[in-house]
Amino acid sequence: MSTFAKGLEGVIAAETNMSWIDGVNGVLEYVGINIDALAQNSTFEETVYLLWNKKLPTRSELDAFTKELRDHYSIPSEIKDRIKAIPATAEPMHVLRSLISELAFYDSNPNDNDVESARKKSINILGQAPALVAAYDRARRGLDVVEPDTELSFSQNFLYMLNGEKPTDTMARAFDICMITHADHGLNNSTFASRVVISTLSDVYSALTAAVGSLRGPLHGGANEGVMKMLNEIDSIDAVEDYVMTKLKNKDRIMGFGHRVYKAKDPRANELQKLAEQLAKDTGNEALFEKSHRIEEIMAREVGAKGIYPNVDFYSATTYHCIGLKLDLFTPMFAMSRLGGWSGHVIEQLGDNRLFRPKAEFVGEHNVPYVPIDER
Ligand code: COA
Repeated sequence: MSTFAKGLEGVIAAETNMSWIDGVNGVLEYVGINIDALAQNSTFEETVYLLWNKKLPTRSELDAFTKELRDHYSIPSEIKDRIKAIPATAEPMHVLRSLISELAFYDSNPNDNDVESARKKSINILGQAPALVAAYDRARRGLDVVEPDTELSFSQNFLYMLNGEKPTDTMARAFDICMITHADHGLNNSTFASRVVISTLSDVYSALTAAVGSLRGPLHGGANEGVMKMLNEIDSIDAVEDYVMTKLKNKDRIMGFGHRVYKAKDPRANELQKLAEQLAKDTGNEALFEKSHRIEEIMAREVGAKGIYPNVDFYSATTYHCIGLKLDLFTPMFAMSRLGGWSGHVIEQLGDNRLFRPKAEFVGEHNVPYVPIDER
């Protein structure tokens, strides 16, 4: 018996040991560890190790993993030249999607799909992704590309390559917490896309390219840019009430609210809210945080009963803005982090593969006569 579930809502389509979500109570765990504990104590590198290996690393395991990742920070010179030729008007998510695909050109065995090869390709892509984003952003601003610094962590190195100067410890730590909290989230749309593609035994580059394409949609990772645009549209804290009420009356969506799985506040939003508040104070962006907080209060009053609360994108927008990132880099930041999760899922899928091939219910007509073109 086949059942139809629009949007595959409620369908369990894969097994995973990576993240667990309790949407009713607002809990997220990676490999059984609460996201709050990871945000407070872990690093992005350690979190990716955890997701891929299903255990926290020992110090020597973490050192080896970190070194391997750093050995992949540099991008091929051909890709650097290519980046300089991309129109400055291109959207960074389109650039990242295209360039992850192009990294396959510089891999002598791009199609190797055993689990160990997939892990190595994942390190290769994850290590280079920050350089792809930073190099394009600098090139479009007419600035020289900054070479990576292998003495720096994933997060420090990205901000260094983007800005040409080393970030403060506070900024680097805030950015790292964003990377940790965005790394994995069950079988979300982009993760599903990566598993669907690798299930054909295509290749890791294709799977992760598809995932980036999925993430950029405004109903998925693109929502963080939508949040920032909304905050910019609201002139002052006094204008928030009218803005939100008008949107709700017109049945418009408030970006950064609602979630297919969470019917409580997204636990990642709690961590990011703390971060956003502190960074807003540090960088003189208090008004932005206050507007966000006011939107949250009004939404709780108006639609809280429907289970619509802030999701991961809501406070990450203020956080990224305070870190100094341009609006169209918000979703690429999500992608850089989620590459850790997508890769883990690709590795899991390859470890116990079954081709994804659902069915569609045919709702068209039958026995339609073929009409020659001149008679239509
Ligand atoms: N603002 C206002 N109302 C919202 C809303 C939002 N952001 N999200 C959902 N709703 C309302 C819908 O209008 C609908 O109301 P109704 O029952 O009165 O018609 C109800 O909540 C259920 O919406 P539905 O679209 O069925 O929920 P979903 O599970 O399919 O949607 C999202 C999940 C994420 C697509 C949706 O909440 C959304 O579009 N959010 C904004 C985009 C966003 O932040 N995406 C990032 C997700 S991490």
